[in-house]
Amino acid sequence: MELPNCTHIKHRRDGGILLLRIDRPDKKNALTRDMYGALAAHITHATADSAIKVILLTGSEDCFTSGNDVNDFLSQSGDGAERPSFNFMQALVDCNKPVVAAVTGIAIGIGTTMLLHCDLVYASQESDLQLPFSRLGLCPEFASSFLLPKLIGYQRAAEMLMLGNRITSTQAMNIGIVNNVLPAQEVLSHALSKAKELENLPSRALQVTKQLLKNDDRKKIRSTITAEMLEFGKLLESPEAQSIFSAFLNRK
Ligand code: COA
Repeated sequence: MELPNCTHIKHRRDGGILLLRIDRPDKKNALTRDMYGALAAHITHATADSAIKVILLTGSEDCFTSGNDVNDFLSQSGDGAERPSFNFMQALVDCNKPVVAAVTGIAIGIGTTMLLHCDLVYASQESDLQLPFSRLGLCPEFASSFLLPKLIGYQRAAEMLMLGNRITSTQAMNIGIVNNVLPAQEVLSHALSKAKELENLPSRALQVTKQLLKNDDRKKIRSTITAEMLEFGKLLESPEAQSIFSAFLNRK
């Protein structure tokens, strides 16, 4: 399988661990179509490659990711099934290997919703998580309308998804969507040590464990992603959302 060369997605192997780094710090790691495409390809490849035991997802020092590149929101339409973000979501949902996330800095939009699909999540003390979809004139994506209430309870999920305020990494840990909060300089090494621990465990047993943990949810996750993307696509085209995107891009 040919892996795309994307300057903003760095990849490195450390034994059986595939480290994927979102690396576009001048744009707060905003995710473009190419970046989603590269992430999707690497995750799909890792799922098929028996030499890769664990995937570790990380960002830059001061930013995990500010979410979808807002420029792309201005030019997207349709039900979303053809969008590279959809391929990325599918790849992560279908991944049968353990996925560990090391989050330093902000995680906005899909930066937070992707964490709901990771198996272990470590964040820095300064990290904030935010789901600003309604503020942008949009709706939940990446099955967050199903997973978030399931994980943290309906009212907390509604608060995050409707009000769209930031929560701190400590709050995220207390409601159960982050495993541990650490000083920024320790997050990656801690996540790596957990990935190494996983690498050294029997991989088939881990894959079966993941499958059993996720099994009942996978069908619902897929159908929720499709339903959300339909609504998301319609809202993306609304004059309200388009003017919010333009206001962000022209704010300086
Ligand atoms: N899409 C496109 N560009 C983005 C971006 C995004 N999601 N997030 C940040 N950028 C760009 C900014 O436009 C800016 O570009 P410029 O230097 O060419 O003007 C650069 O990244 C740095 O961002 P800036 O806003 O100056 O940094 P900040 O520290 O003041 O704020 C954020 C950081 C992430 C809080 C702020 O950029 C933000 O709110 N971004 C949008 C988040 C968002 O709505 N994402 C969509 C989620 S669904």
